[in-house]
Amino acid sequence: MNISRRRPTIGVFDSGFGGLTVLKALLELIPGADYLYFGDTARLPYGSKSVETVARYAVEAAHYFEAQGAELLVIACNTATALALDRITAAAHVPVVGVVEPGAEAAASVSKNKKVIVVGTEATVSSHAYRKALEARGLDAREKACPLLVPLVEEGWVEHPVTEQVARIYLDEAFADGFREADVLVLGCTHYPLLKPLLRRAVPSHVSIVDSAESTARAVAGRLQKLLPPTPAVHEERRVLPRLKFFATDSVEKFRRLGERFLGHPIDDVQHVDLKE
Ligand code: DGL
Repeated sequence: MNISRRRPTIGVFDSGFGGLTVLKALLELIPGADYLYFGDTARLPYGSKSVETVARYAVEAAHYFEAQGAELLVIACNTATALALDRITAAAHVPVVGVVEPGAEAAASVSKNKKVIVVGTEATVSSHAYRKALEARGLDAREKACPLLVPLVEEGWVEHPVTEQVARIYLDEAFADGFREADVLVLGCTHYPLLKPLLRRAVPSHVSIVDSAESTARAVAGRLQKLLPPTPAVHEERRVLPRLKFFATDSVEKFRRLGERFLGHPIDDVQHVDLKE
């Protein structure tokens, strides 16, 4: 079948490297697209910052993406989604997809007893964005901030006994009292998909792990089908290779080095960007 549809340009935004886990999921599902990935590495972490600051940074990045020709924005950063999705959506002139709603939707479809644990950064947890999204779907949610996990993942300690011990402490606290029988763990942070095997060992065996990176990729595929019909094209383009461009606000060399771990393959085309405040 001949595909006449043009390739969409998708902007993927994150505070740094972690959003590459979302890009990875997007590449698997929608390889026939041009991707612009923006990591605000000079200003990370977002997970300990205020709503005002995160919203300002994310809106600046959204404008940058639009200037680069992005037709759809994916806010891969859980913290930016949780704190500022409404502000980004209001400021952008193209559709915006965040990670919280797709993650909540996936949790709702998997949970049998409607009790869910969400792990994320301090800021994501304080915003209660996940709890609100889950409660709106009739689920009971407990959110647990796990601030030590981001630096441990960035250190490359994804299978380290220290990381396992830290994760077990957080999860034991989360799966306590009224939430012992929770049957879903939502990974509400870009870095946690790298810890999936370790987290699998640390939670009770009846618990399903929902990776918001994967559910977001499915939501983006759905959005693209509406934006750029005909629908079969997204699947037909599986044979086509993606085109990738990376932008980082701090060291390009560091982005390449750390980014490869998150994306799972080498990163070539990285450009340094200086966003004026
Ligand atoms: N990208 C952030 C998130 O998903 C984690 C890293 C940070 O705090 O900037 O919440």
